[in-house]
Amino acid sequence: MKTALRTMISFLCLGAALAAHVHAAGDAVKGESLVAACAACHGANGNSAVANFPNLAGQGEKYLLKQLQDIKEKLRDIPEMVGQLDASSDQDLQDMAAYYAKQPLQLTGSVEQTVQVNSGLKVDGLKLGAAVYRAGNMETAVPACTGCHSPTGQGNAPASYPRLGGQHADYIAKQLRDFRAGNRLNDGDAMVMRGVAEHMSDAEIDAVANFIAGLN
Ligand code: HEC
Ligand code: HEC
Repeated sequence: MKTALRTMISFLCLGAALAAHVHAAGDAVKGESLVAACAACHGANGNSAVANFPNLAGQGEKYLLKQLQDIKEKLRDIPEMVGQLDASSDQDLQDMAAYYAKQPLQLTGSVEQTVQVNSGLKVDGLKLGAAVYRAGNMETAVPACTGCHSPTGQGNAPASYPRLGGQHADYIAKQLRDFRAGNRLNDGDAMVMRGVAEHMSDAEIDAVANFIAGLN
């Protein structure tokens, strides 16, 4: 009897949790009607043609919503987007996030490159990028990216760790430099990404960004 009751209660709790989750999710169809102005920079369907404007297609919904809220509240400072979200309700932001999360991402792709490391030596950029992504740099306490952003660069949607794979290299490199310089401050009280980027060299940033653009 007791066990049956407990089972019933846990089913009810699960039901409530699922219902709350469904309620929290945005409406992608409504979202599509709200993003006409965004296409100028982020491209139709969130696949951007400009390397400084991030792809939004296929990005995690929770991460997108957090960024939209942060940009609207000016916790993340983006001059190009000033005023863009002023008239949007939180429901609008949820719907936009749901829309972009569902769009298929076109991979940007990486290129062959050599980068100059601090000693002056020129090395294979793709090899260095892969090494940084998978293993970090033990000597300078840069952690591997795989643990949070996943081996394929897909990120961790429920934890709101962003997808990186296939993103424009220029955009990725700019974010890492912004975190390193403290120009991007919306990575939470733990300052996770400021901590990651703090000890990265320019060569490591450029190499890992190029590697990420082709990661899939
Ligand atoms: C005039 C160009 C422009 C317009 C219009 C614009 N954006 Fe942006 N957006 C940017 C730029 C540039 C960045 C990245 C800035 C940076 O380097 O941090 C960005 C970043 C973002 C990000 C963060 C992406 C990430 O991976 O962290 C989201 C989400 C976003 N925009 C959504 C939107 C939405 C939704 C609209 C329409 C309501 C919009 N943007 C309109 C230029 C624009
Ligand atoms: C401990 C977890 C963790 C590790 C390790 C980590 N990241 Fe992140 N990363 C995050 C989180 C969380 C965010 C989102 C911050 C926010 O909410 O704005 C993020 C955001 C980013 C962004 C911005 C994405 C965008 O669309 O704007 C880039 C670029 C990035 N990380 C690159 C890296 C690279 C490269 C490495 C490895 C050298 C790395 N990260 C290691 C957790 C991590």
